[in-house]
Order: sequence, then C-alpha cells, then structure tokens
Amino acid sequence: MFGKKKSKPLVGLDIGSSGVKAVELRRKGDDYELLNVDLENLGQDVVVDGDIMDATAVKDAIDSIFRRNKIKTREVATSVSGHSVIVKRITVSAASEAELHNAVEYEAPQHITFDIADVYHDYHVLGPGPTGGYDVMLVVVKQDKVLRYRNAITTAQMNPAVVDIDAFALQNAYEANYEPSADQMTALLNIGASIMNIHIVRGSVPLFTRDVPVGGNQYTDTLQKELDLSFEDAEKLKKGQEVPNVSLEAKAAHIRSVSDILLLEIQKTFDFFRQTASGENIQGIYVAGGTAKIEGLVDLLKEDFGIPVEIFDPFRRITVPNNIVPEMVREQGPRMTVAVGLALRSFDES
Ligand SMILES: Nc1ncnc2c1ncn2[C@@H]1O[C@H](COP(=O)(O)OP(=O)(O)OP(=O)(O)O)[C@@H](O)[C@H]1O
Ligand SMILES: [Mg+2]
Repeated sequence: MFGKKKSKPLVGLDIGSSGVKAVELRRKGDDYELLNVDLENLGQDVVVDGDIMDATAVKDAIDSIFRRNKIKTREVATSVSGHSVIVKRITVSAASEAELHNAVEYEAPQHITFDIADVYHDYHVLGPGPTGGYDVMLVVVKQDKVLRYRNAITTAQMNPAVVDIDAFALQNAYEANYEPSADQMTALLNIGASIMNIHIVRGSVPLFTRDVPVGGNQYTDTLQKELDLSFEDAEKLKKGQEVPNVSLEAKAAHIRSVSDILLLEIQKTFDFFRQTASGENIQGIYVAGGTAKIEGLVDLLKEDFGIPVEIFDPFRRITVPNNIVPEMVREQGPRMTVAVGLALRSFDES
C-alpha cells in the first residue's frame, strides 16, 4: 500500500476561529510519526464564522508557531469551511469519464447559488449514477474566502500549497486513524468554536457534507449572558473550571440547553441525509473539535441516536515521540483533527 510515492513535506495548518493549529508528520515505515504539533489561540474578532477578518493577527500566530517549534518546512496545507463552501452530490450526464470534465463544467452552475465567476470549483468522482451518467461530489468555494486564507499564509512567508475543505481533512484523519471497512457508515462531526462540520461517509466514500453555523461560542455566549459573566469566565466555566458564585446546577442547565440546539441540528441533517439516500443507516459517530469535550454531549448523542459515539482521536495511529508536549495530544487532541488530516496530505500520491 505504501509504495514509492512522490511526496512533499507539508505542515497542516488549520486556521479556526478559536486559534491556529499546526501539525507536521513524517512517515516511518508504514506508520506516521508526529514531528510537530502546536496551537496559538486567537482573539475573538480575528477569524469570525470561518472568515479571516484580521490577517495580521493570523500571520503573527503562524509566525509564533513556526518560530517556537523551529519548523523549517515552508509548504502548508490549509482548509476552509462554513457559509462560503458548498459540497453537493450531483449526477452529471456524461457517457464516459473522459466526457466528465466538460459535463461538470456545463452542469455545475445550476447546482450552486453563488455566481460561478466568484467561485473555485472541483469535483471527486464517486462512481456511475443510479440511472446513467456519473455521481460526483461537487465542491464549490468562494474565491475571496480562499484568497484571504492564501494571503494570510503568504504574508507569513509560507506557501499555501494545498487549500482543502475542513470536511475532507476530517475524513483524511478518520481514514488514517480508524481504517474503516468499505461498508462502515459513519458520521464525522467536527464541532469547533463557530462551525460544526457534519460529514457522512461509507468506508472511504464521502456521502454527505453540511456545515452548520453552531459551535462552542454558543455555549460561551449563553453562559455569559445568563450568568452575567465575562467571556473569559464563561470559557473557564464551560471547560469545567470553577468560577465564583456559579452553581453547578445552573451551569449544567444552560449547557444542556445549547447541547439540545446542536442535537437538533444534527438530527435535522441526518434526517435530510436519509431522505436523499434511502436505506442508509449511520452506524456510529465520531466527534472531533474542541467542543467535543463539552460535558455530557457525547452521552446525549449516544442516548438520542442509540449508536456508538466516541470522541475522535487524531493521534490514534500516529506515533508520538517523548519530546512532544503531551498536553497538545491528550488535552487538545480533538482540536487537532483537521490539522492532522491536512498534514496527511504530504503523503498523497502526486
Ligand atoms: N475542554 C473543553 N470543554 C469544552 N469546550 C472546549 C474545551 N476545550 C476547548 N473548547 C472549545 O472548543 C472550541 C475550539 O475548538 P476548535 O479549535 O475545534 O475550534 P476552531 O477550529 O477554532 O473553530 P471553527 O472551526 O468553528 O472556526 C472553543 O469554543 C472552545 O471554547
Ligand atoms: Mg475548526
């Protein structure tokens, strides 16, 4: 499986609204070893709902990470998500794979709500369509969003060699760490600060992707408003630390109310998916992202869906040497999932 491949070292760089996360891997025989992992938290207004608002602050965060860890690699893989991204399974009427490219170019505009002139688009072939033609996963991203990500990276003197989308990076990390069998239907959730990526796969085939604008910020906002706290105290409380004059019951009730909102969004998405893919049953859920660690969330998902639910471990099959700060792997692990998936792009066949 791991024959000779042309690979180039890339640092996986996940620029999220809570912080910049970086991962560098190296191949060791048939395994991966962690070379570098780090994160730099960002202020609240730097990246908002997946859009870079303050490129200088992002550049500074990238600089700090590379300097602190003495990372020499200048090539990075990054990803985008949120409202400027559309991922859609479509059937195009092409008689052969050779005709596919033109068919996608011709048919794509009718499937997207953005002006085709303002977007980048790409597609992955999934296989023959149900009644002829081909099924493809169409990926559309607004150009200005990608340009902002590229700019932040080039100002930090790095080269944005790959710009992916979060959901596919998530899937990369899943395949490498969990080696799913071909018929394993799994929902991958990545719940960050402002966006939840929901990505449903069968084995290694992507079936359905949706980004929902909810995440950890909603918990913080609710605690802040309802309990009259500062942002910092609300964050602390959310993460299980003590804050004076707040009862555990009050906290639990507010957290639960936000978890119910997230749950509803997940239910709606699963229902919609089931309507479009008859007879497909999701068999398990993995939850990545910092918000995976919200008290009670995993249990709530288990109860509600009646299937196994686990917190995603992006380092499950990755060797972690002793010089790596364990906190980054143990405590911050779920937050590193997208960065791990991006770092794995170094080993793509080219
Ligand atoms: N132990 C914890 N318990 C609960 N929430 C946590 C914990 N640790 C981090 N979080 C929350 O996780 C979120 C950050 O997660 P993550 O790094 O995955 O998001 P992001 O990628 O920056 O955001 P986005 O993808 O939405 O732009 C924050 O809202 C943070 O408060
Ligand atoms: Mg994220």
